[in-house]
Amino acid sequence: MNTAGGRLLRTAGICGVGSCAPETVVTNDDLALRLDTSDAWIRPRTGIGERRVAAPETASSDLGLAAAQRAIAVAGLSASQIDLIICATSTPDYPGSFPSTASVIQDRLGASHAAAFDLGAVCAGFSYALHVAAQMVRSGAQDYVLVVAAEVMTKILNWEDRNTAILFGDGAGAVVVGVVDFGGYLGGVLGADGSGGGLLCVSAGGSRTPLTADLLESRANTIYQNGREVYKFAVSIMGDAAMMALAKAGVDSTEVDLFIPHQANIRIIEKAAERMGLSMDKVYVNLDRYGNTSSASIPLALDEAVKEGRLKRGDLVVLVGFGAGLTWGSNVLRWSMEN
Ligand code: ACO
Repeated sequence: MNTAGGRLLRTAGICGVGSCAPETVVTNDDLALRLDTSDAWIRPRTGIGERRVAAPETASSDLGLAAAQRAIAVAGLSASQIDLIICATSTPDYPGSFPSTASVIQDRLGASHAAAFDLGAVCAGFSYALHVAAQMVRSGAQDYVLVVAAEVMTKILNWEDRNTAILFGDGAGAVVVGVVDFGGYLGGVLGADGSGGGLLCVSAGGSRTPLTADLLESRANTIYQNGREVYKFAVSIMGDAAMMALAKAGVDSTEVDLFIPHQANIRIIEKAAERMGLSMDKVYVNLDRYGNTSSASIPLALDEAVKEGRLKRGDLVVLVGFGAGLTWGSNVLRWSMEN
């Protein structure tokens, strides 16, 4: 417990983690068969070796549901104990999240007592959702919040555009946030710079530019990215956001046991680690096997880190995400789960 304005606040933390990725693996060599690219170009510039690609009939909620079921089982809960589901996704099952992917997951989980909504902050979506969930639990508004980050990014890619097609993959991760007896959520920061919205966007298919046959033909409903500008933004924000979150949590970067960054590009990750004074053995990277899974990348990496024994109770862990918007977010936790 701690206090805010004289009111008692509870200690919120992660009490269950799960993930799910589609089975189909597409390597850089596979991509080179249909695009003017190569493993020799992709790997050194991005750190990506392969990615998972969902089947045509697979939606975000299919991956998100499996990740959520695992997280709830690890937390030792039943779905009926979840009070709220927040789904971070930029590839909702239905356009405009109408209805929300969180609602679809709520129904399929049988989480009959849970409210549900989608949260849109693209690749920073998990960092945003975790921060919101932690405040909900700390304040006593909810007891158990399920955060799901689920993406089928390959469905919004133009497979003929080598600038973007090589970068993304599909996957989902989920955590249950509840009251913990030790450690937990120490603090976080969120930020946005909407003036950079045009650097990374899906320009058509929303209310600004409804889809027409011509726009569909020109693939304006797929991801556009100014890679160089996004790279510059990411390099400066990733380390800065993590350092700001650490300051807010009242801990020093020398105390960090594990840094789990958004898995977008190994060069961006290395620069952020350098800015924080961390050696790469304290950084969790699975980008080589999954590519950029947008909001799912951090919880997917977190779940793998837990399964590999890279996190033990008491460890200080820092998460940081950035993405379209432009948006960013960072979360600092003292790990509460037993191995
Ligand atoms: N294969 C081969 N050649 C390529 C490819 C490719 N896949 N892509 C681009 N090229 C070529 C370009 O055409 C260009 O050729 P030219 O010099 O003859 O014109 C050359 O390679 C260099 O292209 P750049 O775009 O300048 O390459 P850069 O070194 O900037 O690397 C990259 C591109 C990897 C995309 C980099 O800019 C990057 O990682 N940016 C950040 C992206 C990112 O992190 N995005 C995720 C944001 S999170 C979210 O919300 C989704």
